[in-house]
Amino acid sequence: MSASAAKPEQLGKITDIGSLRSRFPALAQRVRGKPLAYLDNAASSQCPDVVLDAMLEQQRSNHANVHRGVHTLSERATEAYEGAREKVRAYLNASGTDEIVFTRGTTESINLVAASLGGALLREGDEVLITHMEHHSNIIPWQLVCERTGARLVPAPITDNGELDLTAFERLLTERTRIVAVAHVSNALGTVNPLERIIELAHAAGARVLVDGAQAMAHLRPDVAALDCDFYAFSGHKMFAPTGIGVLYGKRALLDRMPPYQGGGEMILSVSFEKTVYNALPYKFEAGTPNITGAVALGAAVDFLDGIDFDALAAHEHDLLTYATERVAALPGARIIGTAEHKAAVLSFVLDRVHAHDVGTVVDSEGVAIRTGHHCAMPVMERFGVPATARASFALYNNRDDVDRLIVGLERALEMFS
Ligand SMILES: Cc1ncc(COP(=O)(O)O)c(C=O)c1O
Repeated sequence: MSASAAKPEQLGKITDIGSLRSRFPALAQRVRGKPLAYLDNAASSQCPDVVLDAMLEQQRSNHANVHRGVHTLSERATEAYEGAREKVRAYLNASGTDEIVFTRGTTESINLVAASLGGALLREGDEVLITHMEHHSNIIPWQLVCERTGARLVPAPITDNGELDLTAFERLLTERTRIVAVAHVSNALGTVNPLERIIELAHAAGARVLVDGAQAMAHLRPDVAALDCDFYAFSGHKMFAPTGIGVLYGKRALLDRMPPYQGGGEMILSVSFEKTVYNALPYKFEAGTPNITGAVALGAAVDFLDGIDFDALAAHEHDLLTYATERVAALPGARIIGTAEHKAAVLSFVLDRVHAHDVGTVVDSEGVAIRTGHHCAMPVMERFGVPATARASFALYNNRDDVDRLIVGLERALEMFS
């Protein structure tokens, strides 16, 4: 759908994506004497003014512990915390706030499902099907529970352009597959996976599906009801909120049957040495004092994203990615890693004459922030026969000038190492 043919729900939303840059105070600074070009958004994105304001206000005026207090500040903190949960619910189109569990981030969300559901469900001979493009956070929790239960972890292969090999995936999906865990968007390649098809196939085979949405939330707007995924995990700090807060969406019927992940305060109704009665959802999975300010900030980030026209955002990011891809590919000895047809705003590449780490250091001296290394996706590096890549990843506030600055830095690296 084009940016101009607005859907009714997009009316009144911000279409001038370029205007949003001024809302991010961190981007106004100079780094190494140059204006900052921040292209490390897949690792962590910057916060807009409204998120910073919400954090400060929460800490300055409403700080208290949630749920148990009868005093005014505790009531305010509870209202803000639970209000944030409702914002996330509405944004994801979940059916109730009991399906929204606040966690530390994607990693904790996946560990929760792997330990709790995986521990209860998996038996020797069962399989967990993932893909070859997963982040370590969507590999290791499954390895741990497979070790414990005797189940087997099966990675579905990817093609030379970094797409999931759907035919192989379908072949590997059998009556032994109990859980499918797959990234919505790959952090190392930028590939957007065909979730609808994956979920449909997995459900037809009787498997539960967890989606790692860490890289999707700043670019796409998932509708968990339409997707029909069983779980959707993401981190606040990759969608314009701070670190230390994230979400696990889970279908109520599943969360209800799953055992607690951690024990402690908040997650109980009554405790005696003989028997503990667990709290209702989602509190059963929120042991201990939560990251209240983080949740409030995440709520503000959700409001911010909700005000944006996603068709315009997609057009803006598509333009940036296409422009950056063309310019990087034109450099001598450049190879793009990840050339899927459907990509989000991630550009991974290698320069044959310069090690990725040197690329990162040289462009930093030009005020350009990119990430270099294995991106917590070692199997992807191995698949493409490289030890590391340089990765420029874009967010809504980036523009062509940032890309031009990256190219200046890369040309400098090529000059230095030729
Ligand atoms: C695809 C993907 N999954 C999971 C994670 C882990 O996220 P976090 O470290 O916020 O838990 C990341 C982080 O880069 C990621 O890109």
